[in-house]
Amino acid sequence: MSPIDRIRSYAPGAGRLPARASLPSDAPRISLDGEWAFRLHPAVPATDEVPDPSTGEGWGAIAVPGMWQLQGHGSPAYTNVRFPFPVEPPVVPDANPTGDYVRTVTVPEEWVGQEAVLRFEGADAHLTVWVNGELLGWSTGSRLAAEFAVGHLLVAGENVVVARVSQWAASSYLEDQDMWWMSGLFRSVSLQLRPAGGIDDVFVHADYDETTGGGRLLVEAAPLARISVEELGLADVPAGTAVEIASVEPWSAEVPRLYEVVVATDSETVTLRVGFRSVRIDGDVLKVNGRPVLLRGVNRHEWHPDTGRAVDADTMLRDVLLMKTHNINAVRTSHYPPHPDFVRLCDEYGLYVVLENDLETHGFEPNGWRQNPSDDLRWRDAYLDRMTRTLERDKNSPSVILWSLGNESGHGRNLAAMAEWIHRRDPSRPVHYEGDWDSGYVDVYSRMYATHAEVDAIGRHEEPLTVDPALDAHRRSIPFVQCEYAHAMGNGPGGLTEYQQLFEAYDRCCGGFVWEWIDHGIRQRTPDGTEFFAYGGDFGEPLHDSNFVADGLVLPDRTPSPGLLEFKKVVEPVRTAIDAGTRQVVVTNLHEVRTTAYLSFGWSTSEGGEATGAGTLDVPEVGPGESVTVALPPLPAATADAEVTVSAVLAADEPWAPAGHEVSWGQAEYASRPPVDVLAFATPARVDGDSYAVGPARFDRGTGRLRSLGGVEVLDAPALVVWRAPTDNDMGYHGPNQLAVEWRALGLDRMVRRLELVEEQSAGLRLRERYAPAAADVALLVTQSWSGTGDALRLRVDVEPEGGWPVVLPRLGLRFSLPAAVSDVSWSGLGPGESYPDSVRAARLGRWSSSVDGLQTPYVMPQENGHRSGVRWAELTGGGTAGLRVEGSPEFGLTVRRWTSEQLTAARHTPDLVPGDRVWVELDLAQSGLGSASCGPGVLPAYQLPAQPRSLTLRFSTV
Ligand code: GAL
Repeated sequence: MSPIDRIRSYAPGAGRLPARASLPSDAPRISLDGEWAFRLHPAVPATDEVPDPSTGEGWGAIAVPGMWQLQGHGSPAYTNVRFPFPVEPPVVPDANPTGDYVRTVTVPEEWVGQEAVLRFEGADAHLTVWVNGELLGWSTGSRLAAEFAVGHLLVAGENVVVARVSQWAASSYLEDQDMWWMSGLFRSVSLQLRPAGGIDDVFVHADYDETTGGGRLLVEAAPLARISVEELGLADVPAGTAVEIASVEPWSAEVPRLYEVVVATDSETVTLRVGFRSVRIDGDVLKVNGRPVLLRGVNRHEWHPDTGRAVDADTMLRDVLLMKTHNINAVRTSHYPPHPDFVRLCDEYGLYVVLENDLETHGFEPNGWRQNPSDDLRWRDAYLDRMTRTLERDKNSPSVILWSLGNESGHGRNLAAMAEWIHRRDPSRPVHYEGDWDSGYVDVYSRMYATHAEVDAIGRHEEPLTVDPALDAHRRSIPFVQCEYAHAMGNGPGGLTEYQQLFEAYDRCCGGFVWEWIDHGIRQRTPDGTEFFAYGGDFGEPLHDSNFVADGLVLPDRTPSPGLLEFKKVVEPVRTAIDAGTRQVVVTNLHEVRTTAYLSFGWSTSEGGEATGAGTLDVPEVGPGESVTVALPPLPAATADAEVTVSAVLAADEPWAPAGHEVSWGQAEYASRPPVDVLAFATPARVDGDSYAVGPARFDRGTGRLRSLGGVEVLDAPALVVWRAPTDNDMGYHGPNQLAVEWRALGLDRMVRRLELVEEQSAGLRLRERYAPAAADVALLVTQSWSGTGDALRLRVDVEPEGGWPVVLPRLGLRFSLPAAVSDVSWSGLGPGESYPDSVRAARLGRWSSSVDGLQTPYVMPQENGHRSGVRWAELTGGGTAGLRVEGSPEFGLTVRRWTSEQLTAARHTPDLVPGDRVWVELDLAQSGLGSASCGPGVLPAYQLPAQPRSLTLRFSTV
């Protein structure tokens, strides 16, 4: 086959060894990671002349594992659905960047004459391999291992390994995942000796019988292999023998019990960490070890902001620990098998895994799915090859509870063939695939971004008929999973709580996986060295999908976003509900197998934001699925603004977090605040030169604008603000409505103010204003009623809509500005992080402080952020002069930043946000929720903000 024919071939490869398990073996192994000689061709070389770096020309060095676009060769490109080349399968463009990798490897004398394999854990996308000048074969399947028999070519001493990797191939039509197009040997390469009489493959079947507590172990391996499990008293059991074990501890995500299983022949020993567990579908319920599971999951792409999909061991561990410490119990490996060590970490630390095949053909959808490979039998081998390599590699991992055929590949016979093969090869795990809603060949009904209402209907088995009525009964009878929901792009998602309530309400719903774990931003620097994260279009791609690649629960550098903190709270495995009236706490254990014995409970109180007491709370051990009610101890007496918090923390170190790590908490207010005393402010405004004096404040006489308050200069007087820099969810790229487009169309970003009246009153000063966008006949009428005492100022603001408002509002607030010297904010209310009405569970009442800069969340694409909810009072200080104190009656939303919402709207990357000469303060009467409409449902009705009369009373003073 010519090089071009290989590139265009429907076949998945040639000359490779059959797929086998990823096995920790004592057989000698030489890592080929490190520096390789490298050169990049603009197209696939026409001949198979073996690349030779000694020619010098165009050669340099490159790191393996790595992606060449992040090492100075070519540039990354991002598209979501669309192929970045004309759709003419199996042909790809002539311009096909092709990298030649060359290195030598020193082979010991004793290897010569033995079998050996050259193993590539991942080569994106088309790999051709030579050793010592001989063509070994070629392979596709970028995130799948490929092995070539090489023993017959090896010589003692130096051997030359050559890998030619092309960016595009026929296989690219099967690898249209929503991620950066990047290439190279991005996972490890190794040379492994295969001793005669060794263990090429192992398939461990370790079942758990929850009715007896017993286990059954059957290890398929080379006929002469012997199996030992010291802990279970098993020694030298012949491979292929089923052993019944009277009592084993099962593996689960909550208690990831592993046993060391040693498989040995005279020449090789393989040591596996094995978990006994069962996965079963029981009616419409997904069960592990006989207990229903609720997947509190995330979709994880492999990502590192500097190295792309080449992810190092520390980063993988960091992901696992971040997940565990945020109450996540499941991962869908969207949309390809991850590095094999990641799956091992899931075994060890306890995460359920939906292991997905490296398959997505979404780019055919925009063309009506014409030519989709999924139903084209010419691609059948490629499909089966992928699925086989996926399953065989990780088949021994207890964490894998579902095999997934791939993502968004339409439907067709090749998918059905893969499912059929899995059912034969590994009947112990159900099959998942979302793309076929009929669910004819899968075992769970999977959907993505189903609305709350749809999930509710599915939970009740009342979802609408799908395409093929013959399959309806099957689909309706199987468990339901949301393989993607709650699109975590930018600020959001909102509405997690309501999803969780549905998942918990219906047995049929086994939970879901938030889309997605991490923003795939690429770390870049401005000329002055300021770091930022790049997204689609930043590398000059002619076709791209912008920042849709940044939609994770953690920022590209793995800083947890507010969305992750919200998710942690919403999916907490233990709930503590406090009844402030009866002083009772109901502790509910939502675990599948763990009791609450690993947690210790404590209470704490505060009044006016100051801590007033704390102690331990005796909670009897609560079994999974059970609740207890305990009484709080007598709480410190409080007159106003006091809350009690109950917190459950790790009693001892866990492998994934130290003792004291908080797992869950609950809070209740037990003394509330009196409203601002109106009568105290009944003094008239005084004329003082060109100003009005109202209490400690000065207002401009002509315009009624507030100019100063005590010693605090007010640069821009309070004015109505309805605009917020659209969030990705406001943009609603793939949602039911594009709120931000409606807002702009109406002109909410360019409201015009008209002062109707400034009126001196017996109790102060009254301003009447009308705010409306040009060309519109709707308006918001605002009355600002100011009154003062010696040292304080009171504002009552009333907002009345005029006309028939066609849209809901982003926010409703007052905005003013203070000198840039203001640097710090402290407040009493919900915190410490940002929150919005439909994403507020993670915020707790307390007294918080932050620098102004620390209040901002650096979303990859700048957008509305930083809003603190339920603020009772806030103090803005800095610069050594008087600060401003604002109290709400009852409370307000607070946003403080060094730029305006308009500047935030215009910014495209974080360095575009440049501090100006003032600090902007927004005090909100209300904010809209966030929703998840960047891909999924919009803001639920309860969190929408219709234009309707609203009022707020504030008290200002200096500090
Ligand atoms: C889904 C897809 C994901 C991702 C997501 C949007 O349709 O499966 O890969 O593209 O939408 O971010």
